[in-house]
Amino acid sequence: MRTWFSFLQVYKQKQFLHFFAQALNRVTSYESIADLLTVQIATIWRETSFLLFLPGEDDHVFQLYAALDADIPSQMRNISARGLLAWSLKQVRQPIWGTQLKERLEGHTLLEVEESLLECNQAALWVPFVFHSQIEGLLLVRPQSPSPRLEVFFQEMIPQCAAVLSNLRLIRTLRRQVCLLEENRAALDIAYQRILTTREEERQRLARELHDSPLQEILHCSALLSRIRTYPVEEQPLILERIQHHLLDVSDQLRVICSELYPSSLDILGLPMAMQSYVEKYPEFASIVELDVANEAYRMPVELSVHLFRIFQEALNNVRRHANATHIQVRLYIVEAMCHLTIQDNGVGFDVPASLPNLAAAGHFGLVGMWERVQAIGGQLRITSRRGEGTRIDVEVPLIGRRV
Ligand SMILES: Nc1ncnc2c1ncn2[C@@H]1O[C@H](COP(=O)(O)OP(=O)(O)OP(=O)(O)O)[C@@H](O)[C@H]1O
Ligand SMILES: [Mg+2]
Repeated sequence: MRTWFSFLQVYKQKQFLHFFAQALNRVTSYESIADLLTVQIATIWRETSFLLFLPGEDDHVFQLYAALDADIPSQMRNISARGLLAWSLKQVRQPIWGTQLKERLEGHTLLEVEESLLECNQAALWVPFVFHSQIEGLLLVRPQSPSPRLEVFFQEMIPQCAAVLSNLRLIRTLRRQVCLLEENRAALDIAYQRILTTREEERQRLARELHDSPLQEILHCSALLSRIRTYPVEEQPLILERIQHHLLDVSDQLRVICSELYPSSLDILGLPMAMQSYVEKYPEFASIVELDVANEAYRMPVELSVHLFRIFQEALNNVRRHANATHIQVRLYIVEAMCHLTIQDNGVGFDVPASLPNLAAAGHFGLVGMWERVQAIGGQLRITSRRGEGTRIDVEVPLIGRRV
């Protein structure tokens, strides 16, 4: 581009304008228009310095974008787009010499940066590129001596340059919006996948719960009912009583499943109270659970509460189903920005498998689920148990960086 511009020096001003306009039509970026407005023009107007200001990232400021044969102190490289200087240039809409601009602004209070910039560039031609009442850029052109030809050139070119600059700013805004949309979409995709997985996990869990307990009980009742006629008449009331007990058990199990599906008290009352109300709801726990909650635990981060509550639930249900314990101690406390939850029973204990996933492969999901939850919240899980010596579950979760 530099070469053909050099040739233009020999052409008359009209032809130069024509070629400049053609080059302007090919502009696709701030880089290329900056090159055109400084380096390329300098091939015609030699011994001239240029300072080009373009809208910054937030559009509230014009930043120095390109400088040719000119230096500028760092504190003058940003001009407020809402300041008096910008406002005044917007009204002028035409190239104006620094001295005239200074006169226009006489008696007005400018910002310190505006004042200094004006003072340093009184000998420059100020070219505001205004399009639809908006300044899209500002060029300060300082020739060796004031040149009317330069002024006329910019008078002719301002509308085109301003339109191109306006398009470039719109393109930049659109690009930013597209990026933002893509980022949001990616985040939504991840969130949606997580929701799907969690929903699937919950369904599997519910299916297991229903299959393992209530369904078996109902099948058992059905079997008893189908055989009832084969029993002597005097034994039949006893069988019916057994069936009734089983059905009451089933209703208890279904109630447990329902409350596990949505621990509403957790939202309203917080973790310690939700634990308390869970224990109180089940007589088999109320009589043997000792709940020891430290004061600070009442300010538990919300995002941890659900996970810790689920772990607590699973641990208690394991004790109920497997441990045959007479005492369960539950402790919740915070020490040095670590949250601790321990559930210890004095039941039959068991051999803790070396690999928890093996349990899942054998159809036991509770302990693996605990482990997964603890991983998800960046904590540690320890399961300690020996046959005949009870079981202890220890969860430790760091609180640093979490909203309390
Ligand atoms: N507190 C406990 N006391 C004794 N045994 C336990 C205790 N907790 C777990 N276990 C043993 O560990 C096994 C695995 O427990 P896990 O919670 O993973 O599965 P589950 O309770 O059998 O089934 P679910 O998938 O419904 O939880 C249990 O089957 C039981 O043998
Ligand atoms: Mg379990």
